Formats: sequence, C-alpha cells, structure tokens
Amino acid sequence: MASRTFIRALRSNVVRQIATPVQRRTIATAFIAARATVAVAPRIPALIQKRGIKTIDFAGVKEDVYERADWPREKLLEYFKNDTLALIGYGSQGHGQGLNLRDNGLNVIIGVRKNGASWNDAIQDGWVPGTNLFGIDEAISKGTIIMNLLSDAAQSETWPAIKPQLTKGKTLYFSHGFSPVFKDLTKVEVPSDIDVILVAPKGSGRTVRTLFKNGRGINSSIAVWQDVTGKAKEKAIALAVAVGSGYMYETTFEKEVYSDLYGERGCLMGGIHGMFLAQYEVLRERGHSPSEAFNETVEEATQSLYPLIGGNGMDWMFAACSTTARRGAIDWTVKFKDTLKPVFNELYDSVKTGKETIRSLEYNSDPDYRKKYEAELEEIRNLEIWRAGKAVRSLRPENN
Ligand SMILES: NC(=O)c1ccc[n+]([C@@H]2O[C@H](COP(=O)([O-])OP(=O)(O)OC[C@H]3O[C@@H](n4cnc5c(N)ncnc54)[C@H](OP(=O)(O)O)[C@@H]3O)[C@@H](O)[C@H]2O)c1
Repeated sequence: MASRTFIRALRSNVVRQIATPVQRRTIATAFIAARATVAVAPRIPALIQKRGIKTIDFAGVKEDVYERADWPREKLLEYFKNDTLALIGYGSQGHGQGLNLRDNGLNVIIGVRKNGASWNDAIQDGWVPGTNLFGIDEAISKGTIIMNLLSDAAQSETWPAIKPQLTKGKTLYFSHGFSPVFKDLTKVEVPSDIDVILVAPKGSGRTVRTLFKNGRGINSSIAVWQDVTGKAKEKAIALAVAVGSGYMYETTFEKEVYSDLYGERGCLMGGIHGMFLAQYEVLRERGHSPSEAFNETVEEATQSLYPLIGGNGMDWMFAACSTTARRGAIDWTVKFKDTLKPVFNELYDSVKTGKETIRSLEYNSDPDYRKKYEAELEEIRNLEIWRAGKAVRSLRPENN
C-alpha cells in the first residue's frame, strides 16, 4: 500500500504540474486537470482488508465497508437458488435493479399494475406478461423475496392489500427507509415474523444500470429493520451485490431515510437548484447575457469544476483554479456556510418530524400526481436559465 508521505508527495507534484500553468480557470484546462487527477493521483484512505470487507478510516472514524468481491456470480446463484425475487414497481429503481438481477441470472419477476406506464415500460425492456411480468398480487404470491420498489406514496396506499400476503418465510426488501420509519404516517407496520431489509443505491436507477453495464457498481446503503432468521444482514449484502452495488455501507433504516430526504432536498437537488437560480438571476438583473450567466453558473460548474471535486476533493479543485479565484472562493465560503446552515437545520427538522413525509404522501398519492409533476417539470424546463442551457449544450462537439 502506498504510504501517506508518498501519496502527499505524488499529489503535490501533480498539483504543481497542473496548477502552475493553469493561471486562469478555463473549462478546457480544468477538464484536463480533472482527467489527470483520475489517471495519476487517487487518494487512498488508510484501510485494513479482509476478504469481502474493508475497514476504512473515514476522517478518523473507522467503518466497515462490504465489497462485491466476496459475492461472485456463482455464489449469488447458489445463494438464491431457491428464491423468486418479486420486484414490485418498475420506476427508476425497478428498471435498474430488475435488469441487473436478470442479467445476473437470478430468478426475478416483476409485479406492476396492469397496463399502467410501468407495465408498458417493462414490456419494452423484454419482460413477458405471464412469464416474468405479473400484476402486483400475483407477483407477491409467487415471490419469496418481495422487493417493494413502488413509489413511497404507493407503498403506503397499497399496504393494506400487500401486508396479508407477506407470510412467514418471505423477506421484505425496501430501497428507502421511508415506509417503515414513518409508520405512524405511512401505516406500513411490517409483520413481526419476516426479515425486513434495505438496499438503497446512492443514485438514480438509471445510474445503477449504467454502472453495472460498465462493469462497475454503485455505492449502496444496507440496513436491517427486522432479523428473524439471523441471516438478514447477509441477505441484504447479497441482494445489494445482485442488484448491482459495488460497495455497501451499513446504516440503519432511520439514518438512511433522514439523510436521504435531507440530502435530496439540499445539496443534491433542491439546494443546488436554488443556488443556481439565485446566481443566474443576479447576473441577468445586472446586465449579463443569458449565455454568460449560464456558463458562469452551471456549465463551468458541471463540466469543469464539480468533476474536479468528485475526482479528488475541494482543495484539489481550488488548486486547479487561479489564485484570484481561489482567494475569493475561500473567503466567500464562510458567508455562504453561515447563511445556509440555519436553512439546513430547518430542513433536517422538517425531515425528522415527518413534515416532508406528509408532504410527499399527500402530493404523490393524488391520482393526478404524474400530470401535476409533469406540469412542474415543464415550468422548470421553460425557465430562461434552462432554455439558455439547452442552447449552450447544443454547441458541444458531441451534439454537432
Ligand atoms: N429514484 C431514485 O433515484 C431512488 C434512489 C434510491 C432509492 N429509491 C427508492 O426506491 C423506491 C422506488 O422509487 P423509484 O424512483 O424507482 O420509483 P417511483 O417513480 O417513485 O415509483 C414508480 C412505481 O410506483 C408505481 N405506482 C405509483 N403509484 C401506484 C399505485 N397507486 N399503485 C400501484 N403502483 C403505483 C408506478 O407504477 P405505474 O407506472 O403503474 O404508475 C411505478 O412502477 C422508493 O422507495 C424510492 O424512495 C429511489
């Protein structure tokens, strides 16, 4: 294993190579830097390795991370040889996890309401009605492991019909802690005689599928809500690998749902969109053109600087930028953090008290939820910032 000193030396050498000529941050130079980081200087955390499990020192806190190496395909096939995986729901996760399970050779069937959008999507993906595509109840009756990948609102709505079918010996699987954790609101009170486990991929179902096809695996959280057989955790790890995970991070249902609802409303989606809009609007109000405002707000972020953060961290991104950019960014970080922290605290409270759950259940249980949500997406699509973005993207070489 490379020593920390060596890694530091290697890293600072690469920083010098990249930072010195890059006196101005431009999309092109920063992009080259991003590629160099991936090729030359991965940061390797301290780790102790056993087969199939790594103990990683995450900034001073040691955590076990499970890896797929311990679950080759033959072992998965043997482990699940007597199981029928009934995957209920075929949205983003159903699609990604279902296709990966099928490609892994496992006995998986899909259960969705007949003739809905998902039913048709499943047929498009090669699932065959009556063979491996069924109505929800029929799929559950055939399954030994019931993978509930309905929308969170639908999990609550369908629970009175689903619960009596979860008989002793079956396993119940979720990809979000939402339904059992907020059981007072969702009414999802699981039967006491079955294993209840969670595998929550940390990304969209589309990414679950793409990474699997590229031979990589997505990071997933795993957790156990109820262990009746003594095998619940092992089953969760095996299923995580089977649906296409590379590394599995152990958590609890509660921590998974709190962090997930918080994160997607914050930096992952809502917060970042709010920040983009605020910056763009100020630039436009102060006389900048749409292309300039978009390039300086979104394009450079997503195409140049965020990949640098993803590749090797925030300091790495700062180091790849000009001294002028760096100075201002470091100074203004404090103001943004102090201004935003109370908002993040308010958000966490809103998640933990169930306010966000109520909102989600109410909105997404509306029979017209797809129509209403499509109207909202249309509104976003039509914002000037995103129309400008479409024009900027049209100039990319791959679109010409
Ligand atoms: N998407 C992600 O990035 C992501 C990431 C990690 C975890 N998760 C979790 O994974 C689970 C599934 O999420 P998802 O995003 O894949 O799916 P989703 O879009 O939230 O849900 C879609 C599925 O729910 C079905 N559905 C909706 N209302 C229904 C009802 N009243 N009765 C029966 N079926 C109904 C839809 O069927 P129809 O087409 O027939 O309406 C569709 O198959 C959730 O627990 C979610 O929190 C999602």
